[in-house]
Amino acid sequence: MEHKKINFEIEVYESIDQLTKEDAWLLNEAKNVTQIAYAPYSHFQVGAMALLTNGKTVAGSNQENASYPVGLCAERVLLSAASSLYPGVPVESIAISYHNDNGKSDRPITPCGICRQTLVEYETRLQHPIRLILGGMEGKIFIIPKAGMLLPLSFSGDDMK
Ligand code: THU
Repeated sequence: MEHKKINFEIEVYESIDQLTKEDAWLLNEAKNVTQIAYAPYSHFQVGAMALLTNGKTVAGSNQENASYPVGLCAERVLLSAASSLYPGVPVESIAISYHNDNGKSDRPITPCGICRQTLVEYETRLQHPIRLILGGMEGKIFIIPKAGMLLPLSFSGDDMK
């Protein structure tokens, strides 16, 4: 028997002022996108904005439904849009922000499990890491260099070969 250690490092910034101009811009865009979320049930609006390697940007926001499980997270709405609008173009970075009507919005949130799985498959499919820039309306910012880091030992199509 052997022990295997799995660890990774993320960047933690005290505020948006410490980000590069480009990252700060993308995060501010994600904050704006929260306003077009459809979240009448959770009152938790999530906004995501991607920068693609061709310089284009693509937005996504959460889209809920009265039948709750039908709802989609901002990250998967974004990746579906990116794949449809710019097929084959890798995603460089995605900024994700949120506005919580019922509480504070002052710390980063990380993608849910289903979105992590979706992000990993997008990275693998287009052979390009996706940087995540995570922050609320204020407060600390996390930068994750590669979305796949959030889902170690993930299941993939290779496992079915
Ligand atoms: N949500 C996202 O859109 N992205 C996340 O990373 C976490 C959760 C959405 C799903 C649901 O509409 C609401 O936030 C509350 O869970």
